Amino acid sequence: MALLDVTNVSLAFGGVKALSEISFAVNEGEIFSIIGPNGAGKTSLFNVVGGVYIPDQGEVHFAGDNLRDLSPAKRAARGIQRTFQNLQTLQSMTVLENVMVGMHLRQSSGFISALLGLPRIHEENEFAVRASMEFLKTLNLEHLSRQQAGTLPYGAQKRLEIARALAAQPKLLLLDEPAAGLNPQETIEMAEVIRRIAKQGTTVLLVEHDMRLVMDVSDRVFVLNFGRALACGTAKQVSSNPEVIEAYLGVETPEENSRAAVN
Ligand SMILES: Nc1ncnc2c1ncn2[C@@H]1O[C@H](COP(=O)(O)OP(=O)(O)OP(=O)(O)O)[C@@H](O)[C@H]1O
Ligand SMILES: [Mg+2]
Repeated sequence: MALLDVTNVSLAFGGVKALSEISFAVNEGEIFSIIGPNGAGKTSLFNVVGGVYIPDQGEVHFAGDNLRDLSPAKRAARGIQRTFQNLQTLQSMTVLENVMVGMHLRQSSGFISALLGLPRIHEENEFAVRASMEFLKTLNLEHLSRQQAGTLPYGAQKRLEIARALAAQPKLLLLDEPAAGLNPQETIEMAEVIRRIAKQGTTVLLVEHDMRLVMDVSDRVFVLNFGRALACGTAKQVSSNPEVIEAYLGVETPEENSRAAVN
């Protein structure tokens, strides 16, 4: 049985068909990537899986259960966590505290209420500290635990966001453009940590424009174009598909030839 099963999902915003009859299944332990040009519907698809949008048609099953009536908070409690396209670290808190907040995400109704509902983010809580340090280790951030999050380089902040989501111990982690804005070295590091996360047992659903990263880490790649499924297969299969090349991979900018679209 697939961990995540998206069946025939359609979603429109007024006249804009963001998603048209999308179906795919993600197996446990997989790194499954969704690619496509700007506006293809990738973030909308994340929002459907996360419960932010209810599709006009179709269903999402997670670990065998239909998610239709579950709020984003309930989906998080079931084991679906995500990071966002724009950076959402708590800038004035330490790296360690950011992750400790994440540990509460699964129990409470969301990020803000997790913050407000915390009895105290206490570093005396030895268990929480030790567990958080493990998540930081996974993300190569252990040595920065006492630093204020806002002072970290951008790449480290993107990894911190993932560490925080991971601290809620999701079964499925949705990463929306984790490499956006990263330099080449940071992108290599991001690939390494995404692989590590999957190896440690968390299934990863990845949206990313950096084709080198996608092709490097993905078990399978799903291609969206104007809200429609264009192809699905291994990185090799997808990157040699003529329709994909025409719609997406062929679009290269002179400055950024490792990226397939201008972001
Ligand atoms: N809340 C919304 N209201 C109206 N239209 C929306 C909304 N969210 C997305 N859209 C539209 O739906 C389509 C898909 O957008 P979406 O953000 O899912 O694309 P994307 O693939 O994530 O793009 P990008 O690569 O730029 O992040 C676009 O035409 C977008 O303008
Ligand atoms: Mg998007």
